[in-house]
Amino acid sequence: MGMFRKKGKRASFAVKENQRTLHKNLEFTAVEQYKLLRTNLDFTLPEGETCPVIGVTSSMRGEGKSTTAVNLSYVLAEKGSKVLLIDGDLRIPSVAKKMGINRTLGLTDILMGKGAQISEFQSELLSNWYILPSGDIPPNPSELLGSSRMESILASLKEKFDYIIIDLPPVNIVSDAVSISSLITGMIVVIREDYTEKKDLEHCFRQLKLSNVNVLGCVMNESKNEGGSYSKYKRYKYYKYYKQGTDD
Ligand SMILES: Nc1ncnc2c1ncn2[C@@H]1O[C@H](COP(=O)(O)OP(=O)(O)OP(=O)(O)O)[C@@H](O)[C@H]1O
Ligand SMILES: [Mg+2]
Repeated sequence: MGMFRKKGKRASFAVKENQRTLHKNLEFTAVEQYKLLRTNLDFTLPEGETCPVIGVTSSMRGEGKSTTAVNLSYVLAEKGSKVLLIDGDLRIPSVAKKMGINRTLGLTDILMGKGAQISEFQSELLSNWYILPSGDIPPNPSELLGSSRMESILASLKEKFDYIIIDLPPVNIVSDAVSISSLITGMIVVIREDYTEKKDLEHCFRQLKLSNVNVLGCVMNESKNEGGSYSKYKRYKYYKYYKQGTDD
């Protein structure tokens, strides 16, 4: 499998935050790939779901989960849907930093019962795009994400939005993504070309399958598979979509 990195040291990515996220900072092809992801989601989401809640995870750290979550939520909002992006990585949150949000109030504050109006989280870029940062880092992220409190918060948010996207930690490192899985519609798994190791991905899918997670599909981040003179732009290649139940 050429697309996976061979075992060994991971390459480091010294890319400035904020560069790979906002629409205007992405190359044309990358934007097109996110739009394709948006279209493909419509086909894989269960029919009649009024507000799908979509988790974004991967096997290990640094594969592009947060980048994917930010950009996917943006393209969904850009098309007119009311979208909420939640930073559900309560261990190493990055959405607020990527979006240049300084406010600290976030998901953990709401989980702790601190009152917050959803209008406080409206983004400056699009009036129908809302961003809920992680809030203070709690001692028990996994329990919080799978709690009945989280379930009722999601239920009330679902009445206000068309889509909810949750940026999650990696499956192979902590149990958080699996903990929240019964509360969400489905999961997108991000794979980074020349970075994700095959054995890690296999472990990730085993974990997801064991927990009956509805995997909506995979996103191949930073793919170099496309040839031709524009290949350098083909960074975010939509990779593969499959319904739950397909053999892995
Ligand atoms: N396609 C890409 N091309 C170039 N740089 C990228 C690409 N995707 C992600 N990056 C960069 O790689 C780094 C890791 O990306 P990101 O934060 O989205 O990953 P993550 O999976 O959320 O990481 P973590 O597990 O730490 O939360 C960031 O600096 C990001 O800007
Ligand atoms: Mg992240």
